[in-house]
Amino acid sequence: MNEELIGPNLSFFDLSSRESLFFPEDALEGLLVNEKWLSSKFFYDQNGSDLFQKITELPEYYLTKAEIEILGDNLDEISELAGEDSVLIEFGSGPSLKSRMLLKAIKPSIYMPLDISKAYLLETSKSLASEFSSLEIKAICVDYTRPFRLPFTLDKKRVGCFLGSSLGNFNKHNALSFLRQTKKHLGDDGALLLGVDMKKSKKILDKAYNDSAGITARFNLNILNHVNKLCAAKFDPSNFSHLAGYDEGLGCVQMHLVSEFEQKIKVLNTEIEISKGEKIHTEDSYKYSPSEIESLALKAGFSRSVSWFDEKGYFGLFYFS
Ligand code: TRP
Repeated sequence: MNEELIGPNLSFFDLSSRESLFFPEDALEGLLVNEKWLSSKFFYDQNGSDLFQKITELPEYYLTKAEIEILGDNLDEISELAGEDSVLIEFGSGPSLKSRMLLKAIKPSIYMPLDISKAYLLETSKSLASEFSSLEIKAICVDYTRPFRLPFTLDKKRVGCFLGSSLGNFNKHNALSFLRQTKKHLGDDGALLLGVDMKKSKKILDKAYNDSAGITARFNLNILNHVNKLCAAKFDPSNFSHLAGYDEGLGCVQMHLVSEFEQKIKVLNTEIEISKGEKIHTEDSYKYSPSEIESLALKAGFSRSVSWFDEKGYFGLFYFS
């Protein structure tokens, strides 16, 4: 582990074992099997991150706006539950409005953003360190979806936050493992603030992932541009179409790219054959009912739950302790 002092109130810990998030072999792996898939981490090159930012502003994509509404309406209660002199541990760092809202309301003594992208984590931490000059920031570069150890001990109350409904991008098994590991990191008196997209009508969910301006389709297709750059491949995104839909049985929105024709594409010197209508899976987004998420948290070792919802009841914020 290497610790680096970046500024008077910012230190940086690098727990990542890999130099880069993006390995070409990782993209190839999913293209060589029968049910093709690409890891959703490949969405987020610079263009993908910009497109996702645009998604969060779309009228159909209610998730981000609903979560901000819930935070805004309940900051007093959240900060009362968190208490004074806490450590706020954020899974996935954000320069986002949501992180700033929490920092202002909770006023933790230490903020620990965890993120797998070194460059992004460094940039967001630096800007928060200058904006919140009396806050101590300990940024940790780590893939928190895998087991890891915090690089120091903390004797203050730990409050974790995992926003944006990212838990929904894990399958149920991995969601439980993540919650169990997080419970351990937070300790006996710790708590977790978790953003969760609720189960709702297929009509609303299908619209949220198929906006009329076509931004979501561009975002999904952009994964191929990223794979092209990374693997010297020649996917033509216009030969694929975006497919996203809510499967009520699974309680999950599944994202795919569908091949318009039969095509042969060279990826890292390996020829990939794709038939007409064949799908490449890119992401799942599981939705929960309040009782489903509460029983998952219970299984993970949390015993108390407080929850808030937006006015329409589309999105939920849960405080598990
Ligand atoms: N993690 C986001 C979600 O589940 C990502 C997302 C939004 C997404 N729209 C998408 C992923 C369309 C693929 C395709 O809501």
